[in-house]
Amino acid sequence: MLNKIAEGKTKIVYSSTSSDEVFLKFKDDITALDGEKHNVLPGKGVINAKVSAKIFSLLEEKDIPTHFVKLVDDTTMKVKKLKMIPVEVVCRNVAAGHLVKNYPFFRKGDKLKEPLIEFFLKDDLHHDPLLSEEHLKIFGLMEEKEIENVKRITRRVNEVLREFMEKLGLQLVDFKLEFGRDKEGKLRVGDELNIDCMRLWDLKTGESLDKDVYRKGESLEKVLQTYTKVYKLIVGGEI
Ligand SMILES: Nc1ncnc2c1ncn2[C@@H]1O[C@H](COP(=O)(O)OP(=O)(O)OP(=O)(O)O)[C@@H](O)[C@H]1O
Ligand SMILES: [Mg+2]
Repeated sequence: MLNKIAEGKTKIVYSSTSSDEVFLKFKDDITALDGEKHNVLPGKGVINAKVSAKIFSLLEEKDIPTHFVKLVDDTTMKVKKLKMIPVEVVCRNVAAGHLVKNYPFFRKGDKLKEPLIEFFLKDDLHHDPLLSEEHLKIFGLMEEKEIENVKRITRRVNEVLREFMEKLGLQLVDFKLEFGRDKEGKLRVGDELNIDCMRLWDLKTGESLDKDVYRKGESLEKVLQTYTKVYKLIVGGEI
């Protein structure tokens, strides 16, 4: 790892000896409510790095284009350097969170008749406003072809992840992806894919096994227990 290029709320980006690759180091920080709520949870960085590596490997096996190269140590992934698009792509199978809060059509837990893909601008100051496809085009965030491509990749990720989680006894309620363009301009799934960016419910009991445990104010001990439980299901073995 050479120089620090960027630091966000939960990860640090370092340059590497190759100009096409960077390192993503996962921190132990946990945040919610656009960064207003913040704690440090020792061990979370390892959990999130290893869960991300496992899920990215799974997507790569299914020929879904991602930035993943390899896990280089317990908290660090080597990835293809991308020009990130500052948009969060959310895919929902079941109503929860914002969807229940902002629209009158659903109650928490209602199954959607088909997966819903939404776009949000990554901008904590403006509380990540919802973007229409017209916004994406006119604001210069994505071209028409890219929007179609992003939607196709997101649907495919949903199928693969949903099946994978179901086998582990987990319901994939929703998840968030971030995309970027590699040096050839090809779209790839970037950033992270772990317990911070998806809702997972126990298929039998409906219990939340994700960051909602933190959002709703459970003790940090309970939050770490939850992350550890999901880690064991997804990655297997001890941390
Ligand atoms: N493959 C990649 N190449 C370059 N940068 C990446 C790649 N994957 C993720 N990043 C960047 O890593 C940074 C750190 O991630 P982190 O999740 O901590 O940021 P954040 O707090 O969510 O928000 P922000 O992106 O606004 O800084 C982000 O800016 C993200 O865009
Ligand atoms: Mg982030």
